[in-house]
Amino acid sequence: MKITNKQWIYTERPSGQIGEEHYKLNVEELNSDNLNEGEVLVKALYLSVDPYMRIQQSTHNTWEKPHSLGIVQGGGMVGEVIASRSTKLKNGDFVNCYKGWQQFAIVQENEARLLNPEVAPISTALGVLGMPARVAYFGLLEAGKLKKEDTVVVSGAAGAVGSTVVQIAKIKGCKVIGIAGTQEKLDFLTDELGADAVINYKEHRSLEEMTAALNNAAPNGIDVYYDNVGGVITDAVFNLINHKARILICGQISQYNHGLETPELGPRFLHKMLYTRATIQGILSRDYNDRMEEMLAEMGPWLKEGKLKYKETILDGFDNLPKALAGMFEGVNTGKMIVKV
Ligand SMILES: NC(=O)c1ccc[n+]([C@@H]2O[C@H](COP(=O)([O-])OP(=O)(O)OC[C@H]3O[C@@H](n4cnc5c(N)ncnc54)[C@H](OP(=O)(O)O)[C@@H]3O)[C@@H](O)[C@H]2O)c1
Repeated sequence: MKITNKQWIYTERPSGQIGEEHYKLNVEELNSDNLNEGEVLVKALYLSVDPYMRIQQSTHNTWEKPHSLGIVQGGGMVGEVIASRSTKLKNGDFVNCYKGWQQFAIVQENEARLLNPEVAPISTALGVLGMPARVAYFGLLEAGKLKKEDTVVVSGAAGAVGSTVVQIAKIKGCKVIGIAGTQEKLDFLTDELGADAVINYKEHRSLEEMTAALNNAAPNGIDVYYDNVGGVITDAVFNLINHKARILICGQISQYNHGLETPELGPRFLHKMLYTRATIQGILSRDYNDRMEEMLAEMGPWLKEGKLKYKETILDGFDNLPKALAGMFEGVNTGKMIVKV
């Protein structure tokens, strides 16, 4: 069976804001009769849009080398097997794989994770039961050594990672302060996710203002800071960390578009680490790839019991992928940003 496959090719390195001009559409022909043993053909249903895509476009080495131009934009895919030469995956199975922004992909059976649509809607494999959840869960509980009654501050709190962190911390009996950029997101954090206090960072742009807002929300100081944003918010947190505080650097989205090549210099509060014997640690979802089952064993039941909620911002249409990525940097999403193919 011959198939026309549309792909978004990454063609130009952005120097600032990422946009559609950095991609071009490509069309190729695939033939399912050419599958090798152990391979399946997957039809994409949902494609993931993630801030890390912008990091990979930097000219600097990160956790890997800068992505070269002329390749399909990498990313998570949830799709349906429509042809199979695998003994493990059959037609009609839903899978999660990392095949990027394209409508179809040939996938090795061991590169695909079989999904059970009865456990949760399959799109959750990209969000609340997927990569962002993994770094939320292991980052907070293991690297963050979360303890009951800790005061936890989460930046980027209404996003895919942040909204999961907020809820895990609440489930574990902590006081949680969420920081996000719109009133609607703040309401989501308090009314639906149970955050104890919220701060709109757009109303507290200076270090002094953010420090005052945090001090007001956390008068007894901060035990755990789960950082998705960086910049002024993070500078302000350093002012208020408690003895043996744990600072987790999950992301620095405020720095991606303009700061990856020339990072913004901020105030220096590292002396606070000395007095408090606090720790600061970078956390990466991929370091916990092989512990997915462990996470799902706890998070799956939470989701089923309604203890763990999730939101997805789903844009319709394959052609909207670059627009969706640019939109994340303007905060258009609440919860996981996904494109429905
Ligand atoms: N370490 C890892 O393995 C790992 C894995 C996944 C994600 N991450 C990181 O975690 C962070 C969140 O990722 P996500 O996938 O959950 O994305 P997300 O939070 O769902 O979406 C990004 C959000 O960031 C906020 N934002 C954008 N530009 C900002 C700026 N200049 N200053 C402050 N906030 C800004 C926007 O919300 P507002 O409306 O609130 O501004 C936007 O909705 C990112 O930094 C990402 O790189 C790390």
